Amino acid sequence: MLNTVVLVSGGGTNLQALIDSIDNGKVTNVSIKAVISNKKDAYALKRAKEHGIEGRCISPKDYNTREEFADAMLAVLKGYGAELVVLAGYLVIVPKKVIREYEGRIINIHPSLIPSHCGAGYYGLHVHESVLKRGNKVTGATVHFVDEGTDTGPIILQKAVEVKDDDTPEILQRRVMEEAEWNILPEAVDLIANDKVYIENNIVKIRK
Ligand code: GRF
Repeated sequence: MLNTVVLVSGGGTNLQALIDSIDNGKVTNVSIKAVISNKKDAYALKRAKEHGIEGRCISPKDYNTREEFADAMLAVLKGYGAELVVLAGYLVIVPKKVIREYEGRIINIHPSLIPSHCGAGYYGLHVHESVLKRGNKVTGATVHFVDEGTDTGPIILQKAVEVKDDDTPEILQRRVMEEAEWNILPEAVDLIANDKVYIENNIVKIRK
């Protein structure tokens, strides 16, 4: 059983997709030990509570330095015996100390086909605004390992989604979530939990 901690900041629809996929058996060998948010009013925490999963709020604002925040995050992750950390709509920069400690065990869902429309400032609706401004005909979502850069870690899974002429950023975001994010995040967690993922020359390979 892979002890998993999910970090969230907002609505938690990706968290919900993971919870539902565990419940319906699409994801196996995973136990979500806790959901941690930097926002105490994040709806994702309500989703966790409704499912009997412990929710915590840990915000950088509650600590005098980044170092103290990093130490607090590390202590909590270790306290839950985290073997996998899932960033699901988490908008705080993960301290390098945490990334180093959990090298190869932190994954993130990004709402575009990396390396397009990603990096600093590309989060939430900003991503879809950028896709529409550029006139992309296809976008999608990416699950990747988290390294010390921003959206630069090895790519695990991607799924393409059509961009339609009359899309607004909100309509496009919803389609990317429904058709891509909510599928590939649980799939990636299941692959990792069942030891199907490995990295060769910084490229992710999937065992069939
Ligand atoms: C989603 O667009 C996701 O791709 C991004 O954060 C947004 C909110 O996700 N990472 P959620 O509903 O909080 O899971």
